[in-house]
Amino acid sequence: MPLSSTDFYKKAPPEKGASSFVYPPTVSNIAFFAEALRAGCVVAIPTETVYGLAGLALDETACRSIFSIKGRPLVDPLIVHVSNREMAARLAELPPSFAPLADNFWPGPLTLILKKKSIVPDLVTAGKQTVALRMPRHPVTLALLQGLEAPLAAPSANPFGYVSPVEAGHVAESFGEKVPFILDGGPCEIGLESTILDLTDGNAPKVLRPGAVSPEEISNVLGRPVPLLNVNLHHEESATAPGTFSRHYSPDTELQLFEAGRIPSLGDDEAVVFLKRPTGNVSGEVFWLSESGDAASVAQSLFSLLRQMDRLAFTRIHWELPPANASGLWLAIRDRIKRAAAAK
Ligand code: TXA
Ligand code: MG
Repeated sequence: MPLSSTDFYKKAPPEKGASSFVYPPTVSNIAFFAEALRAGCVVAIPTETVYGLAGLALDETACRSIFSIKGRPLVDPLIVHVSNREMAARLAELPPSFAPLADNFWPGPLTLILKKKSIVPDLVTAGKQTVALRMPRHPVTLALLQGLEAPLAAPSANPFGYVSPVEAGHVAESFGEKVPFILDGGPCEIGLESTILDLTDGNAPKVLRPGAVSPEEISNVLGRPVPLLNVNLHHEESATAPGTFSRHYSPDTELQLFEAGRIPSLGDDEAVVFLKRPTGNVSGEVFWLSESGDAASVAQSLFSLLRQMDRLAFTRIHWELPPANASGLWLAIRDRIKRAAAAK
């Protein structure tokens, strides 16, 4: 008989990492995580975007635990992770635009919203007739998914509304013993959540959340314009992608945003964060996201620095925005900084 999830929590762990809940990605640990998932446990997994809080997507009890551990409202659906297209086809209707998108962007940071099949529990999709699917490219999680041969529901592994985790330690920090199994895949390669592309209206694909795959790249593959919707919502009920609530990814410290190139004046107990090392003389508590200032390195350090700055307990942090006319990954960076600063 398979072990129940409670048995798993009592079971002596295999090879341990630095923290008692973090496991290095050895072959035997990956097999252990697969076994724990099959038994109904919720575990944290690395992806190239951010860490996810994962459970078997077709197991309602596991999915219910994901919502409850995260404190996520049941109206906000979960992304389902797959390891191949056959698995995607079991879960959703695949429109003609699916194949060229998968050829170009899977595995990778592109989530597709598709018409769901009945096998997907309504709980996962929050009652919607659509499901969000993604094939991640992190080798550890791909190996885990391939071993499992089952799809995994996994929202970002942060308490609802807080900054997403981009290292195993961030998950341990937020959840402690609530998530005793964290598979360590190192720091996330991209550091921002996937691009979400809504394909449910075959004639009008649209980006609901910007990420590392830009609307321009998608539009080049589909041979038609693909708009980025300005989803900036205040009410869960009206949301197309409910997790795009305006306040999201937020630290507890107040953020005051300023446009690139300006230098704000700092009050007592205030700090400033630039996108790259400032060239002029700036006095006070000065931080920057990247030495070079290129978009990839800014994206990689954004969530780590937001978390670190939050711990330093300044009364206010002035934070530099990428230019409003930015494109590519900068769009996603600007989006996340704005959401982090949106009023509570
Ligand atoms: O990069 C990522 O996408 C990460 C990693 C772990 O894969 N996951 C992630 O999940 O960011 P989460 O739950 O934090 O964000 C997923 C977003 C939520 O805003 C959710 O509302 C939206 O996707 N979503 C899920 N299913 C949807 C659906 N059927 N229709 C519209 N939006 C959906
Ligand atoms: Mg999230």
